[in-house]
Amino acid sequence: MSQKVLDVRDLEAGYEPGVPIVRGASITVDQGEIVVVLGPNGAGKSSLIKAIAGLVPITGGTVLLDGKNITASPAHIMVRLGLAFVPQTENIFPLMSVEDNLRVACGILRPREVPARIEEMYAAFPDLARQRRTAAGNLSGGQRQMLAVARALIVHPKVLVLDEPSAGLSPKFVAMVLEMLAGIRKSGVTILLVEQNAKAALAIGDRAYVLVEGKERHQGVASELWNDPVVAELYLGQRRLDLGQGSAA
Ligand SMILES: Nc1ncnc2c1ncn2[C@@H]1O[C@H](COP(=O)(O)OP(=O)(O)OP(=O)(O)O)[C@@H](O)[C@H]1O
Ligand SMILES: [Mg+2]
Repeated sequence: MSQKVLDVRDLEAGYEPGVPIVRGASITVDQGEIVVVLGPNGAGKSSLIKAIAGLVPITGGTVLLDGKNITASPAHIMVRLGLAFVPQTENIFPLMSVEDNLRVACGILRPREVPARIEEMYAAFPDLARQRRTAAGNLSGGQRQMLAVARALIVHPKVLVLDEPSAGLSPKFVAMVLEMLAGIRKSGVTILLVEQNAKAALAIGDRAYVLVEGKERHQGVASELWNDPVVAELYLGQRRLDLGQGSAA
């Protein structure tokens, strides 16, 4: 049996006919790995993982999950197939309590399994247990991401796909969220992660890809990529330029 939990081959996807945003991207994620996708703003990182999750129209290529072709399955079917997607924003219901957020995420579980599964999530995320009656919108930014991740994990996915879970968080919470993902991987869940906090993400990742203009231009062992001159040129150099332009404006 294939080791690859996720095998994305030559994927093409976009929002309008004739305007590909993801342009022949190929990435793999092995069982138990954390794979990080880096790249400059607008490279198509979110579009790539949304296409994998069935949220952006696919015009070419394939997505295999455990060897099964799941290309362009609707997002609600993806959950049943074992792929859980955590979007960058609007990933919780802010007016609902923490517990109700977890409960409504249990859709594909048998009703009698739900209470015990919610308790398992509380055991894994004690912060959420303490705040089970709190409206999710009143949680800290880091706890909100914790809830979003718990909502995704509650249905036992094979692979967890996340879009910038640390975006907008203070450095303390960035570290907390990424450490949480490292812990989740230890429990056997395979993770595909898009991150702007490249250094912190590479510290918890096994392998990483650099996506530029909708295609992976470089890949390697996560711990080696931070000092890789090709990455600096493809990605970090470009970010420095962006920052320079920003501060001059
Ligand atoms: N809903 C949409 N409709 C049309 N075009 C879109 C849509 N979302 C993104 N795009 C376009 O797709 C391209 C890639 O965007 P995407 O959000 O995938 O990049 P990204 O690498 O995630 O960027 P960032 O680092 O800023 O999050 C951009 O040119 C963007 O304008
Ligand atoms: Mg994005």
